[in-house]
Amino acid sequence: MPPDESALTRLPRHVAIIMDGNGRWAEARGLQRNRGHLAGVESVKEIVRSVQDLGMEYLTLFAFSSENWNRPDSEVAELMRLLEVYLDENLVEAQERGVRLRVMGQLDRLPVSTQSSVDRAVEATRDNPNGELIFALSYGGRGEIVDAARRLMRAAEAGTLDPESLDEKTFGAHLYLPDVPDPDLLVRTGDECRISNFLLWQVAYAEIHTTSVMWPDFRREHLEAAIEDYRSRERRFGMTSAQVETGGGAGRR
Ligand code: FPP
Repeated sequence: MPPDESALTRLPRHVAIIMDGNGRWAEARGLQRNRGHLAGVESVKEIVRSVQDLGMEYLTLFAFSSENWNRPDSEVAELMRLLEVYLDENLVEAQERGVRLRVMGQLDRLPVSTQSSVDRAVEATRDNPNGELIFALSYGGRGEIVDAARRLMRAAEAGTLDPESLDEKTFGAHLYLPDVPDPDLLVRTGDECRISNFLLWQVAYAEIHTTSVMWPDFRREHLEAAIEDYRSRERRFGMTSAQVETGGGAGRR
């Protein structure tokens, strides 16, 4: 989805976060990795509130990647448990704040109990109007693109899609959450500078902010620093600076 006018103003409309560094945070304290994930949940709570309080509409959190299935069974089980507890315990607050909870990913791979918590939260908050909190779960950007391609091929086979008419808009409409605008700002914690298969299609024009802060230490002040960084960037979307200044650009996307 092309960036709209709000993406050119100074507050990002959609922030996406790669929450990295839980394991290292724990190991640096002589703790088990799972203690880092537990501490990371507190950061999730604070950042979810802060994003809404600061006036941003969408927050996407990379909570569990397709590749995370390869972690030790005990760590996968703990991450699923933490997610279930988070969803169950924070549903009341989501309702009070009017936040809509959504998920994206290959959800059929999740344990049945996690799917139940997800379904309950998604269903209960479906009509909430005050912003969206999206968990990328069992998610990989390449997998999402392959899933979209599969749907498009089926449509072509069924004769409802002419391959010649395929364009970026039609392709984008077959991704997991086509109504969600692309992230304006992508934050990665944990002192790494990689996309790690997150929202590959959607981050085409996102500003990227990385920080050495480990996710369990990430607080509102760090989010505000990321927004400050975002504000200092000039988003040109392939145009020249002069075109941006005059709001021009014939084929502006
Ligand atoms: C990366 O840290 C983080 C994850 C794999 C998952 C993020 C999970 C949470 C913040 C807790 C549960 C989530 C929710 C939404 C309640 P890492 O383990 O890769 O850290 P490392 O690079 O230091 O090893």
